[in-house]
Formats: sequence, C-alpha cells, structure tokens
Amino acid sequence: MCQPDLHKLPRNIAIDGPAASGKSTIGTLVANKIGYMCLDTGIMYRAVAFQALKEGIDIADKEAVERLAERIEINIRPASSKDGRQFDVIINGGDHTWDIRTPEVNAVVSEVSVYAGVRRAMTLQQRKIAEKGRIVMIGRDIGTVVLPDAELKIYLDASVEVRAQRRYIEDLSHGKDVCLQDVIESLRHRDEIDSGRALAPLKAAEDAVVIDSDKMTVYEVVEYVMGLLKQRG
Ligand code: CDP
Ligand code: CDP
Repeated sequence: MCQPDLHKLPRNIAIDGPAASGKSTIGTLVANKIGYMCLDTGIMYRAVAFQALKEGIDIADKEAVERLAERIEINIRPASSKDGRQFDVIINGGDHTWDIRTPEVNAVVSEVSVYAGVRRAMTLQQRKIAEKGRIVMIGRDIGTVVLPDAELKIYLDASVEVRAQRRYIEDLSHGKDVCLQDVIESLRHRDEIDSGRALAPLKAAEDAVVIDSDKMTVYEVVEYVMGLLKQRG
C-alpha cells in the first residue's frame, strides 16, 4: 500500500472524465485515505436539471434555467439514511438524493450544463468551496476551468462500453429497472454534448495525468493515484 507524506500533499486535487469513468468512486476513496473533502460537482448540475423539471421550466428556455441556477440552494450533507447513499443532497430544503439520478434528469442535465449562466453560478460556488484547500473536486472542467491551479489533475477515462457496463451494474444494484442499450445511449448522448460544448468542455487539462481505466479495477486506480501522490510529495 502506497502511503504518501501527508504534509506534502497537493492543496487541491482535480478529477475529470466522462460519465461513469469511476470519478466519484475513486475520488471518494482517495479523499478518505488522505483526509480530504470530496465534492462531486455533477451533483450541482443534476440539481439544477432536477429543479427545472420539478418547476416545469422549459429546458430550452436558457434565461429561465439560468435564473434558476442563481437562486437554487444546494446542500450536500452526511448521509442520514443507510439506503446506499454516500451523502444527502438537499435542494431548496428537500431531500432529493435519488431524484437527481433518474433517467429524466440524465436526459436533460447536459443541455442545462451548456448554459453560460448555469456554469457561472456553479463555478463560483465550487471555487468558494475549494478556497480552504484539502479538497478532491470531481467533474468535467475542474482541471481546465474551475481549479486550473490544482497541483494534481487526473483525467479518468474508459471506453463507453466499459463505462456503460459499470453504470448498468450499479443501477441494477440500486434496484433500478434498466436496459444496457439505454445506458449506452444515455452516456453517448451526454458525452457528445459535454465534449462538444463551447464553454468548459469535457477534456483533459494539458497538465493532467490521463488514466485509461478500461482494464483497471477500482482498487488499482486508487493505488495508482496514491502512487502519484507519493511521487509528487
Ligand atoms: O455521475 P455521472 O458521471 O453520470 O455524471 P455527473 O458527474 O453526475 O454529471 C452529470 C452532468 O453534469 C454531466 O454529464 C455534465 O453535463 C454536467 N457536469 C458539467 O457540465 N460540469 C461538471 N463539472 C460536472 C458535471
Ligand atoms: O463518478 P463517475 O460517474 O465517473 O463514475 P462512478 O459512479 O464512480 O463509477 C461508476 C461505476 O463503475 C461504480 O459502480 C464503480 O464502482 C464502477 N467502477 C469500476 O467497476 N471500475 C473502475 N475502475 C471504476 C469504476
């Protein structure tokens, strides 16, 4: 087991990559090992998408969605239930931990994430959270836009087939009624919009370490990242 020098750790760590590449699983495990906080910024974009649907806002209405992003209150708290959640996601006072992971939210979250006003509001909050340091921040644009000065940047990749298989198994384990082909389509749809948008697209920062995890287990990826931390220390 690689144990880095805890006094020489990077101030912040950025983990980016496409959907279901293992970012939150690996980010959480690494953060726990080094005593850092972990923030999955995808939750924030999902929260905006969920709330827009809940309020009946037309997703194509850019201004309305952007106004929503300015006023939405998102809180991430320690898990209050043992139903498989890692934490509670509280949106405008209500517990919507599982509601942000439905196929309906999956279908529109990338559209919502294209809007400049939405990204501005979320990025501002994310930078504020990272100010104190000691955070592993996960997303699509953390190394490139949100925290370009992060001292360690990881870009976690895997083929769409492997990622879909992983997400499919994960969904089944949560009792969801899913079909593998739908999961593949949904990931492809999001990947395409996330990588193709003009603002803060999904891509590896120039100084990111790219990890292709197609043939790697969670344990192997975590060990690899711990090795990087040790080297850099
Ligand atoms: O967990 P999964 O990888 O399926 O997705 P997520 O990380 O929860 O992100 C959901 C969506 O939010 C992504 O497909 C992006 O459209 C958007 N997102 C973003 O634009 N920028 C981020 N920093 C994080 C997520
Ligand atoms: O956060 P992101 O959407 O990138 O992915 P995740 O939710 O952390 O991972 C999706 C699923 O893939 C989880 O069930 C992980 O346990 C699994 N996984 C895996 O089996 N092997 C890896 N190397 C990475 C993730």
